[in-house]
Amino acid sequence: MSAPQDQNQVQPTPASDSPSPAGAAEAQVAAVVVLAAGGGTRMKSSRSKLLHEVAGHSMLSYAVSAATAMQPEHLVVVVGHQREQVEAHLGEIAPHAQTAVQDQQRGTAHAVQCGLEGLGELHGEVVVTYADVPMLTAETLTELVLAHRSAANAVTVLTATASDPTGYGRVVRDAYDSVLKIVEHKDASEDERAIAEINSGIYVFDADALRHGLTQITPNNAQNELYLTDIIGVARAEGRPVGAHLIDDLWQTEGVNDRVQLSRMNAEMNRRILDRWMRAGVTVVDPATTWVHATVDLSTDVTLLPGTSLEGATSVASGAVIGPDTTLVDVEVGERATVTRTHASLSIIGADAAVGPFAYLRPGTVLGDAGKIGTFVETKNARIGAGAKVPHLTYAGDALIGEGANIGAGTIFANYDGVTKSTTEVGRYSFVGSDSVLVAPVVIGDGAYVAAGSTVTGDVASGQLAVARGQQRNINGWVARKRGGTKTADAAAAAGAAAAAAAAGTTDTVTSVEEEQA
Ligand code: UD1
Ligand code: CA
Repeated sequence: MSAPQDQNQVQPTPASDSPSPAGAAEAQVAAVVVLAAGGGTRMKSSRSKLLHEVAGHSMLSYAVSAATAMQPEHLVVVVGHQREQVEAHLGEIAPHAQTAVQDQQRGTAHAVQCGLEGLGELHGEVVVTYADVPMLTAETLTELVLAHRSAANAVTVLTATASDPTGYGRVVRDAYDSVLKIVEHKDASEDERAIAEINSGIYVFDADALRHGLTQITPNNAQNELYLTDIIGVARAEGRPVGAHLIDDLWQTEGVNDRVQLSRMNAEMNRRILDRWMRAGVTVVDPATTWVHATVDLSTDVTLLPGTSLEGATSVASGAVIGPDTTLVDVEVGERATVTRTHASLSIIGADAAVGPFAYLRPGTVLGDAGKIGTFVETKNARIGAGAKVPHLTYAGDALIGEGANIGAGTIFANYDGVTKSTTEVGRYSFVGSDSVLVAPVVIGDGAYVAAGSTVTGDVASGQLAVARGQQRNINGWVARKRGGTKTADAAAAAGAAAAAAAAGTTDTVTSVEEEQA
């Protein structure tokens, strides 16, 4: 077993039941253009909006992973604002993606134009999506492409019905219910504003119709922008078939513009992730305070108690109980283990092991099966064998602790001399007495003892007892001489008198002794 490594290239699993989208392979397209040039000013952040996270992954990573699932010949991300940040992040999460630069935000059509520039001749379908719509799944994109294909459309737009459509483009249909055009909120009439069907901003285009349409549109509108939405009206006016693919799940069309929407998106994503795990046999006692990232893996009969946060590449095996108030980041938990009020990262916890309450497991902690890391214990780069126990008030850094060893309360593994860090080994079934300091590098053999209160600076061989502390001296009469008149001295005198009386065979009580003194 080795501690799990930090994973840079994570592909967040969409919060749905099937791991790989049904039909994605058949929905292969020529290009996916992800629009990511916008300013995101309402986030009020020095960090690009697209790098802000939902369920542990950047919004951009959701967009890119949904796009990747379409197996496009070209995956283009159109960048502009804070493009250095966006490009650097893309390099980490999706090195296969190309970028195109849109210097000035002249509208969504202009952004797509920029995206297509470097692609040369394109035949087939072009999907356009936004980078700030994290809930959109590859399944939905696939359905959109398949609907587009079966209707042989020039453009198919993904739409949803909103109870408050304010701000969105509205889908205007004719008397036969077919799509006529999309009108932006700012350009819409009263009647058009009453339409509840909104444009998600996600489309699939026939590549030729898209190229042609882009040459036809003008910034003749309330925002003086080049609207991608106008291509629908252009195609329709030219007699090309256009369509809408209406979905029930409004969340999949929802963008994030500020931190209020970000927290709502996080809550909804988390709710979906937890629902999925509960349906798969995980008990979540309090979904409102339990957070599970999209990349976490859980087994049946895991129990998550309130205040639990499972992040990154964490996995929890069957029967384990996590929480309350526990955060695990990239931690592997074995079957039936219990992890109580603990903060742990990049660690492995064995089957039937017990951790906490109030434990802090830092990277490189590996706890063997049925081992214990107890209360107020901090570990770092510590391998603790099967059945070994570190139960109370200990720091174990750079430690190799053998199977069945027992580390007494208050033991400190002194691993750092101010310059270098060294390792301490404690052998199998050895016993380290309470309040010991093990000064690394030091090796305590198998089956050895360290007396309580020892400062161990030299190796201890198997079978030995190491005692490394001052010899005890008891000085008679010290309290009476040095602390006379204190309650301590009174107590000592009373105890002395009682002992003397007991030795003389009388039944005088302590009270009578005090009376004599008074
Ligand atoms: C757009 C649609 C609207 C739809 C809504 C859905 C247009 C004209 N309107 O409106 O019908 O209901 O999305 O959310 O398309 N972007 C660029 N470069 C630009 C402009 C935008 O990259 O020059 C990107 C933004 O970063 C963002 C996306 O395109 O990711 C949408 O832009 P935004 O300005 O938010 O569009 P809306 O006005 O909301
Ligand atoms: Ca806008």
